[in-house]
Amino acid sequence: MFNVTVTETVQETDTIRVLRLVRSDGEALPTYPAGAHVDVTGPTGVTRPYSLCGPPEDTGAYTIAVKREENSRGGSQALHDKAAVGTELTIGAPRRLFGLAPDAARHHLVAAGIGITPLLAMAYELHALDAEFRLHYVARDRAGAAFADLLEHSAFAGRVDFHFGLGREATARALAATLATSGEGAHVYTCGPQGFMDQVTTLAARTVPEDRVHRELFQAGDLPDAGAATAFEVELDTGEVYTVPPDKTIAEVLEAGGVPLDTSCREGICGTCVLRVLDGEPDHRDHCLSAKEKAAGDQIAACVSRAKSPRLVVELW
Ligand code: FES
Repeated sequence: MFNVTVTETVQETDTIRVLRLVRSDGEALPTYPAGAHVDVTGPTGVTRPYSLCGPPEDTGAYTIAVKREENSRGGSQALHDKAAVGTELTIGAPRRLFGLAPDAARHHLVAAGIGITPLLAMAYELHALDAEFRLHYVARDRAGAAFADLLEHSAFAGRVDFHFGLGREATARALAATLATSGEGAHVYTCGPQGFMDQVTTLAARTVPEDRVHRELFQAGDLPDAGAATAFEVELDTGEVYTVPPDKTIAEVLEAGGVPLDTSCREGICGTCVLRVLDGEPDHRDHCLSAKEKAAGDQIAACVSRAKSPRLVVELW
């Protein structure tokens, strides 16, 4: 954990605020791979993950972009309303759940809305590596597109395609046209609302193998209704057995039992609480595991996911 101080705030759009953070003790921050995020604990104590969106080689400061979410636990609202220059926040070390494939022949970065944040860091890194890439940025209009000015004046401006105000069908046609020319060895990275990423994944699947399509979530989106849950048992690899009632999560039950478990977002986004599954069938309700990992069934996000089998046997990492 690091104490950091806000040194600059920029209101990029009506709903997106950019914060520049430096270590309060004046030391350098850790380097991070493009696509990484940090858990930020804001002025009201709510912790949320935010993608790092500055140049990854800049260890003097981290940049995050915060979209105001009205229907949330208040973490983003506090960073909009209460975090000013001089405000001290706490952040975790950078973690990468979404990153560049080092062996890709070329990279297609496809962002919508606030989903630009991890892909902006990727663009910085790919440009620094002199790699082959294009960045596609979809938004309802230019005024709502964070970092539009920065991208237009960046050293890689010639690699950026803006798709503003096109509507769903025209956007799909534009993305389909560009993804159709991906060629062998291309990887596709997408970040944005769930429906947008589903659309990009479907379009990319026409030319790119599934394991070369990478997606990130910046908000929980529509998780399955936890109210439909039933009780099940969780057995630890140490032999202790806990009952998870319909109205509690695995994480809540383990914490109540004094079992040490790291959590952060508690919304199935960040991956902090993921446990190894040794036996039983998970009922995945998270957005942090990939489709492949969910199908393998040997991991579970304890903060939101449940069990289809009467008992899950899990191992604390
Ligand atoms: S705490 Fe973030 S996925 Fe569970």
